[in-house]
Amino acid sequence: MRPTLSDYKHLSTGKVRELYEIDEKTLLMVASDRISAYDHILSTPIPDKGKLLTAMSVYFFDQLSVPNHLAGDAEDERIPEEVLGRALVVHKLEMIPVECVARGFLTGSGMADYRATGAVCGVALPDGLVEASRLPEPIFTPARKAAVGDHDENITFDQVVAAIGADLAVKLRDDTIDIYSRASMLAYDRGILLADTKFEFGTDPGGNLVLADEVLTADSSRFWPVDGYAEGSAQPSYDKQFVRDWLTSDESGWDRASDTPPPPLPQHVVDATRQRYVEAYERLSGRSFDDWPGGE
Ligand SMILES: Nc1ncnc2c1ncn2[C@@H]1O[C@H](COP(=O)(O)OP(=O)(O)O)[C@@H](O)[C@H]1O
Ligand SMILES: [Mg+2]
Repeated sequence: MRPTLSDYKHLSTGKVRELYEIDEKTLLMVASDRISAYDHILSTPIPDKGKLLTAMSVYFFDQLSVPNHLAGDAEDERIPEEVLGRALVVHKLEMIPVECVARGFLTGSGMADYRATGAVCGVALPDGLVEASRLPEPIFTPARKAAVGDHDENITFDQVVAAIGADLAVKLRDDTIDIYSRASMLAYDRGILLADTKFEFGTDPGGNLVLADEVLTADSSRFWPVDGYAEGSAQPSYDKQFVRDWLTSDESGWDRASDTPPPPLPQHVVDATRQRYVEAYERLSGRSFDDWPGGE
């Protein structure tokens, strides 16, 4: 018989995930259907989002062959029935307080930095790049994790060195670029450009660097269809762009600059967003969400 969630001690609540303790070395990481946009956690969940993100992560952890934090598969008997399909058993790590972002294309906060300084996180880039330009080579653009409700802050490589030491900083940068490059090729084979992505690493009790958290999900990455890609304008994305666009539309009536929380999402936005997540998972993995534990 499977345990229930109440058998485990609840440790923390993130924007999207809950962490529970299975034993002193092992955690249960449970992905919710919560969605965040513009630094707000929205009041409307996206059905199956937790399962879809978990499925994407597991698919890519399996493909990458780098040490990762998974301590069991998605049907591990330590996973309670009530969260089956959106929970994973993972090795508890000492998390490194750096968001390891790799970018192969220019957009988002990278574009904003470039416009202001000609560089992203201190990495100088050629003149004349525009929205969605492909970079000459992938770059490491770390960020410091902000408290809930705040922006993550882009930092330079030197700031990473100052925070965690040169040896670890170099290894994080090299691993981030290497994993990004390999994942980009996998995605490209499925007709998707991996514009950028974020990894989190931790160290195990033996001091080994381990890839943790979620990987290559629509929350941690920008995925763009290869078909129709063109620099110079915003690309249609498999992430929450749909939600962001609605929130900033006249229909929502929300003033982003105000302190008020965003309004609930209408059903058509919920449905379309869910469909984007399903499509991202199925296209990237070549698998059907029907076959995922607790899938549709
Ligand atoms: N193997 C692990 N050991 C310990 N903590 C982890 C591990 N993998 C991920 N985490 C942490 O679990 C949390 C995941 O919850 P999430 O909702 O994504 O948080 P956040 O709001 O920080 O993005 C993050 O704080 C992440 O750093
Ligand atoms: Mg997170």
